Amino acid sequence: MNCLGIESSCDETALAVVNDGGIIGSVLASQSDLHAIFGGVVPELASREHCRYIGALFDELMHRCGLSPEQINTVAVARGPGLLGSLLVGVAFAKALALALGAKFIGINHLHAHLLTVGIDNHIHFPALALLVSGGHTHFYHMQSPWQCRQLGKTLDDAAGEAFDKIGKILGLTYPAGRMMDALASDGAADPHLFPRPYLDNDNLDFSFSGLKTAAASHIEQTPALKNAVRPLQSVTDATTVLKNCCASFSLAVVDTLCTKVERALDRYPTLHTLILAGGVASNSLLRERVTQLMQQRGGEALIPSPALCTDNAVMIAYTGRLLARAGFSHDLRMETIPRGKTIPDDMVCGRVTGRQGHGFPDSLTVEH
Ligand code: KG4
Ligand code: ZN
Repeated sequence: MNCLGIESSCDETALAVVNDGGIIGSVLASQSDLHAIFGGVVPELASREHCRYIGALFDELMHRCGLSPEQINTVAVARGPGLLGSLLVGVAFAKALALALGAKFIGINHLHAHLLTVGIDNHIHFPALALLVSGGHTHFYHMQSPWQCRQLGKTLDDAAGEAFDKIGKILGLTYPAGRMMDALASDGAADPHLFPRPYLDNDNLDFSFSGLKTAAASHIEQTPALKNAVRPLQSVTDATTVLKNCCASFSLAVVDTLCTKVERALDRYPTLHTLILAGGVASNSLLRERVTQLMQQRGGEALIPSPALCTDNAVMIAYTGRLLARAGFSHDLRMETIPRGKTIPDDMVCGRVTGRQGHGFPDSLTVEH
């Protein structure tokens, strides 16, 4: 089965084909240079760029895969959460294609796809604990199976990636700043006492990064060498030691905070021995290292996708779509696009499992957000 995946939830237009043998091909056009001018994603511009590129990317993907469109059996598309205008471009394209080709159509929860991506190269032992750390989300899940993801905790304000991006912006780094902060941090010396580990003095699995953000912003404001740094910074080699050290201290504070709550979650759910780390911030080098170590020390395992599959991509959509299609799920063309903040309904049709015809799936295909 050739499953086409389409991702357009934010500022990446991405398409990929996955079949039973793995990834056949993948293309991605990032708009980050455009949005960097404005210091963040401009929704109207994002949807216009998706419109400009999606058709050409599809042609390019077919060419690279050596496939003709008729060889696509399933079209999977990210239906939410995300920017509504951006999502609509991918969803409209996917519906048109599925209709023209007579292919199966499936709308995918973007968060669910992030969580399952690591299954491409690894066997996931369920139940598993999952930490989704991206630009929009910092969520803990208890995953009983690939389909049952119960939310255990979430951020009360900024997501981890958002905190990296906002502090990076104050430091004069180009949006999105997480990757550059990671590179600078790797070259710097962290002061473990410089910034607080926020929102740990409680017994829950939620996060709040606003206090850390405020502390870092005021440190930068009070440090002339940081405040008056040359902007924008083009490369790691141009960076001063004081900037690298600041990034290292900030990264350490975020990673310490995430790891403390990972330990708390594992203590609370002693039957969980697998940790899935997913989302853009899962490509952070320090976080990957610390989480891997932590799971090894506890006799469990950390499953983390390769960095390219941590940030938004279409392979994760195609892979999740293929899994769902094989399990008999699909949507009809009335499927709605769901923007950030709205609940994604459990409205797939399961056409194969006896007695479960109709909308919804009793074994709860839910990924709360
Ligand atoms: O998953 P993703 O591509 O998009 C969302 O669904 O939000 O995550 C993007 C986020 C951005 O905030 C970006 O700065 C952050 O992931 N990020 C990183 C790193 N690479 C990307 N944060 C820290 N370290 C990195 N290496
Ligand atoms: Zn994402």
